[in-house]
Amino acid sequence: MNQEEYIRSLFVQPDEVLDHVTKSIKQQGMPSISVSPEGGTFLTMLVRIAGAKQILEIGALGGYSGICLLRGLRKEGHLTSLELKQEYADLAHENLKKAGVGEQVTYRIGEALDSLEQLEKEGKTFDFFFIDADKPNYSNYLEYCIRLANPGAIIVADNVLWHGRVYDETDQEDSTRALRAFNEKIAEDSRLESLLIPIGDGMATARVKEK
Ligand SMILES: C[S@@+](CC[C@H](N)C(=O)[O-])C[C@H]1O[C@@H](n2cnc3c(N)ncnc32)[C@H](O)[C@@H]1O
Repeated sequence: MNQEEYIRSLFVQPDEVLDHVTKSIKQQGMPSISVSPEGGTFLTMLVRIAGAKQILEIGALGGYSGICLLRGLRKEGHLTSLELKQEYADLAHENLKKAGVGEQVTYRIGEALDSLEQLEKEGKTFDFFFIDADKPNYSNYLEYCIRLANPGAIIVADNVLWHGRVYDETDQEDSTRALRAFNEKIAEDSRLESLLIPIGDGMATARVKEK
């Protein structure tokens, strides 16, 4: 048994709802790149601890992380989810409805940077952010999240270890370099308190300081 299997065996319970999401993603021929089961458990726990009411997710896929986020959210809370592809958002919404939380989500389709610009124009703010879309834009997404954050908001970004490639200096591929730059930014930005949590493929976790 490796470290991941050990953690999963103790802390992740069998979950028919999430198993269905994983199956539906495969059936639709979509990529199997949902957050890890222990990463999903961590998201639920963090949302609950934060007492978040408004959540912004960047990258919906089939709704796996959306369900995990909503499980930690209060009944009156809401998830805004940004997704490039209409068909992915449709499946995610279907899966969230099956999970009984379909009323608590709004999808915005298109380039996430355009949706973020629009959200800023509308004066929207959030208590919790989950960044999980195209890696080259992670630093741009972080900047928007900080601007859209309520004081004390939490920002989580997935895949920041990139299967160990971020600390392999010989790896100069675009996504690897972008994630390296993102990790440096989230670690050093004076507006944040942050740490990289090595669960799943690595989840950078930050709290936006009060001004
Ligand atoms: C890793 S998957 C998200 C997984 C999802 N968060 C989960 O754990 O269930 C990345 C998603 O980001 C979307 N995406 C990629 N580039 C995007 C962009 N520029 N704007 C909005 N969404 C994008 C992809 O279509 C894909 O659904």
